[in-house]
Formats: sequence, C-alpha cells, structure tokens
Amino acid sequence: MEGLSYRSIADYTKAKEQASAQPEVFWENIANQFEWYEKWDKVLEYDFHTPKVSWFLGGKLNITENCLDRHLKTQPDKTAIIFEPNDPNDAAQHISYSELHSRVCRAANMLKANGAKKGDRICIYMPMTPELAIAVLACARIGAIHSVVFAGFSATALAARINDAECSILLTADGGFRGAKVTPLKDIADEALTSCPSINNCIVLKRTGQDVSWNNMDLWWHEELEKVNDNCPAEVMDSEDPLFILYTSGSTGKPKGMVHSCGGYMVYTAYSFQNVFQYQKGDVYWCTADIGWITGHSYIVYGPLAVGATTVMFEGVPSYPDYGRFWEVCAKHKVNQFYTAPTAIRALQKHPVELVNKHDLSSLKVLGSVGEPINAEAWHWYDKHVGKHNCPIVDTWWQTETGGILITSLAGVTPQKPTYATLPMPGVQVVLLDNEGNEIEGETEGILAIKHPWPSIARTIWGDHERYKNVYFSAYPGYYFPGDGALRDAEGNFRITGRVDDVVIVSGHNLGTAPIENALNAHESVVESAVVGFPHDVKGNALHAFVIPNAKVESNKLTDELRALVSKTIGPIAKPDRIQVVSGLPKTRSGKIMRRILRKLASGEYDQLGDVSTLLNPEIIEEIKRNS
Ligand code: WTA
Repeated sequence: MEGLSYRSIADYTKAKEQASAQPEVFWENIANQFEWYEKWDKVLEYDFHTPKVSWFLGGKLNITENCLDRHLKTQPDKTAIIFEPNDPNDAAQHISYSELHSRVCRAANMLKANGAKKGDRICIYMPMTPELAIAVLACARIGAIHSVVFAGFSATALAARINDAECSILLTADGGFRGAKVTPLKDIADEALTSCPSINNCIVLKRTGQDVSWNNMDLWWHEELEKVNDNCPAEVMDSEDPLFILYTSGSTGKPKGMVHSCGGYMVYTAYSFQNVFQYQKGDVYWCTADIGWITGHSYIVYGPLAVGATTVMFEGVPSYPDYGRFWEVCAKHKVNQFYTAPTAIRALQKHPVELVNKHDLSSLKVLGSVGEPINAEAWHWYDKHVGKHNCPIVDTWWQTETGGILITSLAGVTPQKPTYATLPMPGVQVVLLDNEGNEIEGETEGILAIKHPWPSIARTIWGDHERYKNVYFSAYPGYYFPGDGALRDAEGNFRITGRVDDVVIVSGHNLGTAPIENALNAHESVVESAVVGFPHDVKGNALHAFVIPNAKVESNKLTDELRALVSKTIGPIAKPDRIQVVSGLPKTRSGKIMRRILRKLASGEYDQLGDVSTLLNPEIIEEIKRNS
C-alpha cells in the first residue's frame, strides 16, 4: 500500500494542505488504494446536527477481501500473524496469509452452517488465541456483525452486551490462559446464557482442556470445523453496512454499543496504521492490546492486515513468567514496531532495568503509546531503556468511538514532544472550545472537539441513536465531542489532559463510574454510593468509592462483599482500590452529589475544595477527611 504512505515531512505537509482544501478528494484518493467490488457514487454525506455520517456511499466491498484475498496474489506465504502463547515454553505459531485466508473461510462456513447470515450479531468472548482474530474476520467475511466482549468481563456484563445486540451465536472457549491464571470462560458464558434468549448456538474452542459442563446448544469448535470446507466467497457489503459493535463505558449505567461501518473503517485504520507506525515491507509489528478493546480491533487485526503486515498476537501478560516478558518477545520475534499502554510501562518501570537490558532490542524502530495520557517519567523511561534514544515514540490519542488514531506524531516524520500526542492526522480537524462552545485559538487549554467527520467515526450507538446524539453531538452543536480536555502549545501540539465527564481511565480501561455505583447500590446494606477516580502511580487512575450503609455494618466485611459484587457484576478490572464507608455525601441543595469535591477528597487535595459553604451538608467534609 505504497500509495498510503507519507515518508517525509514534505509529503505530510502536502497531504495536510490537500486534506483541508479538498477533504473529499483527499479521502477518495486514499480509498482508491483498496479493492472495491463497486466504487462509491459519493464520497461523503454528513450532518453533525441530525447526526448522520456516511462515507463512500454506494461503494461495495468486503474488508476481508482487502485484508486477506488481495495479499494472496502478491505474498501468500508471508506471515500474517505471529502467535506468542502465554507459556514461553510453548511454540510460537506463524500463520501465513494463505493459511489465515483458509482458516477464516472455514470458520466463516462454520458460522453459516450454524445459521449465521449477513446482519446477524455474533458475540465473541474468547482468549487471545489466533482463533479470536479468525472469528472476527469470519464474521466480517459473511457480513455478520461481530461484538467482541473482553474476556475479563463478568457473566452479568457479558449477558447485558449479548442482550443489547440480540446476538444469535456466542463464540467462546473452555478457558483462557493469562499469566499464572486460568479464566473459566465457558463457566462464565454458561452463567450469562441463562439469561440470553437470543442465543441459539454456543461454539466452544478447546484451549485449556479443562472440564466444562455441556448444554443443548453447545458445540465444539473443532468438530464444527470438520463439517465444512474452506471455500467461502466474501459477502458483498455496502460501505455503510455495520462491520462491528464494540461496547464502551459511558456516564450512565448502560454500556454504549458503538457501531462501526465497513468502508470508512477499513480506509481509516489502514491509512493510520501505515502512516503512524511507518510500517515497511518485512517489518514485524506488535500491539500488546487485547482484541477485546478497540486498539486490538483496529491495530492488531484490521489495520495491519489491510496493509499486508505481520502482526504479533500475545496471549499472556507483561509480568509472566517475569517482568521481562515483553522484551523477551520483542527480541524473539525481532519486533520493529511496538505499541503498548502507559499503564504497562509504569508497571514495568518499577522492576530492575536489567529485565529490559538483558534482551536484544536492536530490532525496534518505533514505539507507541495508547489509552491514556503518558506521564513524563514513563515517556522518558520508555525512550531511554526500550528505545535507547533511537526510536521515535508515537503517543496516539483516539477512542472506541473514533475507530482509529486521530492525534499523533508520525514516527520519524513529524516531531514528537514528550507527553504531547502532538498533531491531528491529515484529514482530521481538531479544535479547542471554551465552556460556551466557542472555538479558541493559539496556546491555550480547552475542550477537545472535532469539526469535520473522518471515515472511521462510529455511526451510531446500537439501538439508541438518540443517545449517540446526546453524548457526542449535543453539548457543542456542530462538533463531535469526545469527552476529553486538552492543552495546545504555540506550535499547535495537543496534550490530552484527561476526561471531562464521569469516565475514569484505570490501567487504560475506560470505566464509567455510574455502572460501578449501580453495582454497589445493589448490595442490601448500601443506601447510596459515589465513585470517583484519583491519581495512581501505576494505573494512572484508581477508583475510590464512598458508600453510605443503611445500618451499622461491620465495615471490613461490607467492603469485601462490595469488591466481590463489583467484580461479579462488571469484572475484576472495575474493583475500587478504596472503599470508604461514610454517613453522607457532599450534596448541593438540589440533592446532586458534588463529585468535584469527592475527587479532591479522594486525591487528598484538601486545600483545593473551594467554597463548600453552599453545600446542603458541609459538615460531611470533615468526617470524610477524618476517616480517609
Ligand atoms: C484516553 C482507546 C491521552 C482518552 C484507544 C480517550 C488518551 C479514551 C490517549 C478512549 C492518549 C486514549 N493520550 N489520553 N494517547 N489515548 N486516551 O475508548 O481519555 O478505550 O477519550 O480507546 O482514552 O478510550 P478507549
């Protein structure tokens, strides 16, 4: 995909100029690099007020044709996926483009044989094995809409997502390996499926070999594959047909099923992958995310495969068998581009640097960061010990909703600046707004907003277009509002300062405080609760829950039960670090909880509480301070 690349600042500047002068011509030229069964009639139609966005209208394609079939002509034997298993003693697998094509087609036929057809929703709740990527692509092959649920979510969270999208098939595994732990995925799925009437079949991959219970609708993956062949022509999809749903947390209890469409998502993920990481033929690229998150969708599976790259999939965790595992894997597979999250860097930074230095990292050319702001210390550690001051670092800002990276430097092409995501990609129009929604210029701080659509913007929230409008397009009419604040320097570089809503990013995971409060409130001894984030040196942020009990309770017992309840309702990632039992919460006279004050209290910033005299119950502040 040579035509996608800007290799110099001159190319980049030219692209930026064209993108702002003639955005449609700009995107059309990029879209022309792909294989379409039929070209579009119109490049873009949009209205941020309705809101409605459509790209490459009338275009017909299948994304797997671009990710797989196309490469069979030029590089059938090239490795598409390197699978690095959890246990370093197990052999890595190298899956070529032709093998991947065959396995995807066979899995697609397995889905069809079990009744799946275009437009059906298929839920995928699987560990990080090659079959997860194959499952995603198999859905895309037949035009079924995949909804991947991260394999760390609980049965309740899984069921809620299956029911929201009314999925007809669940793809899962007996269990999953993650470090020293084995997650009983099938047991969790069984529990979820007791309340999922839309599911007709549950197809189970054998991964751990553990004992599992077996129900009427259960089928073994390997047995189903044997019944079908690998001839599966790709379904012809409209550019705007949905490709997948991926749930992300919001400010209310219900997760938002972000819907991405086929054409625009393909164009943008490939374009951004190519330019941000400056991938070159023969390079080995590794993104350490899980495919259960958007980073894995866009930059393990679709983006890299669309440009014909070699992408590493890692089943394990950075700490197993020791804190040098990432670097061992980089050395083993001669990784050239390495993309991870600040929370992982901060965790690794706490361990002896010898764990990095003993591995040969000379293959590395580019380092990436995603998911939350990267603090200066982590940035410099990454630069010095991993990059040896020799690898550009791309700090990539984006979201589940944006589908692809929007603000970043391009490795080695545009300047980097520690802790700054730097500049918008060509074709992306980012502005800063003041609280009244006016655009503000120059070196300043404000609310991040985007003025013009880019091809991979999510098109709606599954089943709730009104909510899509309210969350992203209503606060600042005429703009897409991502929910983040940012600083801009004199050169136009952006530094993301964090969320401006009730979402907290814990270890790179987006957690809404509302669903956690709902889980806490479900406990019989809890009257009311409020959850806020506070700074944490490894996780970036951690959660502090304030809980009002309804009677005298033994507070240790209650907090243990509450942690277990959150873990069961949402998943272990949402467990609060601190649970504080209080007799009241600071409230306004209209009864609204003052989260701003709770955030300051949780962070220990007692001198920054501001005026608390207007509270309904100012005395509660002293009590919270005393007991914290
Ligand atoms: C945050 C992850 C600062 C941000 C791809 C955003 C970041 C949210 C960065 C989306 C970054 C992501 N610098 N903050 N480089 N990348 N964020 O949907 O608050 O899981 O809104 O997508 O993560 O999280 P999500």
